[in-house]
Amino acid sequence: DWTPANLVTETVDAVRTQVGDRHVLCALSGGVDSAVAAALMQRAIGSQLTCVFVDHGLLREGEAEQVKEDFVAATGVDLVVADERERFLGALAGVTDPEEKRKIIGREFIRTFEAAARELAGERGIDFLVQGTLYPDVVESGGGEGAANIKSHHNVGGLPDDLQFTLIEPLRRMFKDEVRAVGLELGLPEEIVWRHPFPGPGLAIRIIGEVTEDRLTTLRQADAIARHELAEARLEREIWQFPVVLLADVRSVGVQGDGRTYGHPIVLRPVVSDDAMTADWARLPYDVLEKISSRITNECVEVNRVVVDITSKPPGTIEWE
Ligand code: XMP
Repeated sequence: DWTPANLVTETVDAVRTQVGDRHVLCALSGGVDSAVAAALMQRAIGSQLTCVFVDHGLLREGEAEQVKEDFVAATGVDLVVADERERFLGALAGVTDPEEKRKIIGREFIRTFEAAARELAGERGIDFLVQGTLYPDVVESGGGEGAANIKSHHNVGGLPDDLQFTLIEPLRRMFKDEVRAVGLELGLPEEIVWRHPFPGPGLAIRIIGEVTEDRLTTLRQADAIARHELAEARLEREIWQFPVVLLADVRSVGVQGDGRTYGHPIVLRPVVSDDAMTADWARLPYDVLEKISSRITNECVEVNRVVVDITSKPPGTIEWE
């Protein structure tokens, strides 16, 4: 019967057999799957693994640091960080259409990852590329070797012909709860192991309107407050996801002190779900909502109103874009 320790041992053995003395590349996204996949690879082959983290500047508060510092401290992986925040912000300037944002982010991600992979392949030779495919993805896509259909942003299948690697999928026999158990077994921080699913294009699709540095700062602040209060109320694990959305193109009138304000609304979108295919809006306790609302309107300068999204999926999607 399976225990997290058994799963680790079996996977480590299988990886060692498959890889031999060759070299492996792994992209870290900040999410739980890539983190656990990388930690398993590290346990199996150590110095034959190199991880790449493309910092696109669209993660939430503290998440890039968690990858660069906490994850590295917990695992000892050799991490290459590509700080591409300016590049992504520049590429997104003036763009408001959601699909356009996704395309741009996907394209820039591939280009950046490709450059890093090319450099590493030149330096030490790379044979394998890690993909954090889970068992349900394998089943859904027909089960072929490397057949999983990964969401656009993480799909590194767009690499040019001279940079083709063999895919290695250390999580392909695991369900999500097993991935988490393995992550804890490998000593990963709880904040990484229990992280909610987060879209590849990140905060860019949670700003309705153009993405700018100021708007990212505002949204990051509001999102951090919502997450903090959810954790304080010990509701994190009951909630599937908690998107916080900035309506950057909407203003409404408010009053603060003696003054009239004309600021932006923040939307809270907590949902419960099993698989993100359908979802229901989460009935958060009023006192938690009240705390989040008063903190956001007090602490986020441009925000003077907080609303809660009470739409299920369908007809609404989880994200607003
Ligand atoms: P929706 O908004 O369609 O989202 O109900 C379903 C799930 O997918 C996530 N999502 C994305 N993930 N790239 C991703 O990697 C994307 O472009 C993207 N769009 C939505 C969303 O957070 C939810 O978990």
